[in-house]
Amino acid sequence: MALSSSFSSLCFSIIVALSLFLVLTGPTGSAHKLHKSFYRNTCPKLFPIVRSVVQSVVSKQPVLGAGLLRLFFHDCFVHGCDASILLDDTSTFTGEKTAGPNNGSVRGYEVIDEIKSKVEAACPGIVSCADIVYIAARDSVVLLGGPYWKVKLGRRDSKTAFFRLAESGVLPPGFSNLSNLVSTFKDQGLSIRDMVALSGQSSDQGKGKKFGQA
Ligand SMILES: *[C@@H]1O[C@H](CO)[C@@H](O)[C@H](O)[C@H]1NC(C)=O
Repeated sequence: MALSSSFSSLCFSIIVALSLFLVLTGPTGSAHKLHKSFYRNTCPKLFPIVRSVVQSVVSKQPVLGAGLLRLFFHDCFVHGCDASILLDDTSTFTGEKTAGPNNGSVRGYEVIDEIKSKVEAACPGIVSCADIVYIAARDSVVLLGGPYWKVKLGRRDSKTAFFRLAESGVLPPGFSNLSNLVSTFKDQGLSIRDMVALSGQSSDQGKGKKFGQA
């Protein structure tokens, strides 16, 4: 039961990751230029560090692989992939962690913290958390048997969080049904055709199963 729901969640997450990959790397993407060798000279150990932490975590708890992927798209759907989901409440803003679709159900924060501290030890002040979240999501997909893709890097971290946006319906809630998911995808510029094409492998997408509770 837990296993099957984590797998349907993983399938869904892979679709979303691929969709985001298409959207985020498209020609109309971010204002500054993302590049796959962004940290080649400044943090050459970045990829091995992320991979080794993700590998050790996912080998013990595969469900956290799906969790890292969900953390990634819950970051990206709210004001872009800027790591705003990682920010705790401060005196000036409320973090996104307690927004309805995230509260108590987004997992993997501690994995990102562990990666971040190792990356900081190797190359202080260089790599954004947003990029770490993205690489960790990609590595999770690969470790769980999904496709590999080259990540483009150079995202900047947000200094504030977007609690109200996270609550506004841009994120599919844990109990999303198909029509709800379709409209969430549409809001991100993804058509039903994209979604169906990308979900061709996953026959239970159309049966109103519960998603997202990795
Ligand atoms: C988040 O979940 C906790 C525990 O269920 C609950 O007490 C809290 O009110 C929730 N926060 C928000 C903002 O809904």
